[in-house]
Order: sequence, then C-alpha cells, then structure tokens
Amino acid sequence: TTMTQDELKALVGRAALAYVEPGQIIGVGTGSTVNCFIDALATMRDRIAGAVSSSEASTQRLRAHGIRVFDANDVDELAVYIDGADEIDPRGYMIKGGGAALTREKIVAAMARRFVCIADQSKWVETLGRFPLPVEVIPMAARRLMRQFAALGGEARLRLRDGAPLVTDNGQHVLDVHGLRIDDPLAFESMVNDWPGVVTVGVFAHQRAHVCLLGTPEGVRTIAF
Ligand code: A5P
Repeated sequence: TTMTQDELKALVGRAALAYVEPGQIIGVGTGSTVNCFIDALATMRDRIAGAVSSSEASTQRLRAHGIRVFDANDVDELAVYIDGADEIDPRGYMIKGGGAALTREKIVAAMARRFVCIADQSKWVETLGRFPLPVEVIPMAARRLMRQFAALGGEARLRLRDGAPLVTDNGQHVLDVHGLRIDDPLAFESMVNDWPGVVTVGVFAHQRAHVCLLGTPEGVRTIAF
C-alpha cells in the first residue's frame, strides 16, 4: 500500500512528540505538516507549559486546542523548535517560507537549542534551489532586490494573493526567486542578508535542522546532522 503525502505528514507530526519533554515550552513552526504536529501535541496539552508560535495561523490552532501561547520576549530559551520545510538537504540546510512565515520561523528557531524538521520525503533534495526561494522584503526595496537576484541568474516574482501583493504577518512583501542553485547555503544566506531591504531570506543555514524526521512509505527515517 502506498501512503499519501497527507498520511506522511500525519506520521511525522506524531513522531515529533518524542522530542517534546514534559514541562517545556515548545517552539512551533507553521504549515500543513506542523498542523499535524499541533493536533498531536493537543494530546500532551496538560503536560507541557505551552508554546512560542511562528505565525498567527499556528497561534490560532494552538489556542483552539487549549495550548497556552507565550510571547517570544517572555521566554529566554527553548529546548526544541519543531517545523516543516520546503526543502532540506543532507547537511540539514533548508529552504522555508512557502507559507510566508519565514521571519518569525527564523526568530523562534534561533531561540531553540535544537531544530527538529518534520517533512515528507518529497522535501528531501541534494542541492537547495529547485523550490522557488522565498524572501521577505520591505515593499519599497522590492524592485531593486528583483534586479539583484536577476544578476545572480534568478527570476524573482512578487508573491500575490487574490491578485494583490501578499502582506506577511509583519506587514511586508514576499519575493519568490526561481532558477537559483544554492551550492553554499551559509555564504548565500549571509550575502542576501546584507542587501538593504531584505527582512529575511528563506535559506535556513545558520538556523539549520539538527534532526530531520522524514516521512517515507517505509516509515519515519530519523536523520541526525
Ligand atoms: C512556512 O513559512 C514554511 O516555512 C513551511 O515550513 C513550509 O512551507 C512547509 O509547509 P508544509 O508543511 O505545508 O509543506
């Protein structure tokens, strides 16, 4: 029997519970895979202290399950951050931001000692860049940044929702950059971070994953980096 992508997401969402220790505040990411994790986390609701969330969407879902959501500024450090990815490579480097939550995701990831990435096997790649790279930008810088990506051989498109520029939880815009091949994710992340008007680049190399729970038809593959 073959498992659907949704079944693989549910599988790794449940598997991530093994990384949740009683009494902790948990860092929670965003996306359809994380939604499966949040639903599984509800079964531990009375044994955890609560969560720090990376998006309005995840906050709503956590609260609907009766899980307390803390302000990031009221928490010093998290033991673990659990999130999905759009791509993950054999070094634990990722592309994220398909759900436009990349800035808060990177902030909460940076608060955590350990990043556990939950993903179905379609996200596994040898080299980052097949998935269009999300970059959150200050709106007035969008045009210039599109030209900077063009100089690298990428084609940046302004992300739209219902025909108008998508506005993030932080009030900014998102570019999706097609046609990049990111051979050195650490250097690439630092370079783009230096460009004026970039809020967050969706390469997570400095905030890489430490563990990946990869959903496959044979079960959950645990990859430690
Ligand atoms: C959200 O901004 C992204 O970084 C998500 O983590 C990523 O898009 C994965 O989402 P799915 O679990 O829905 O594939």
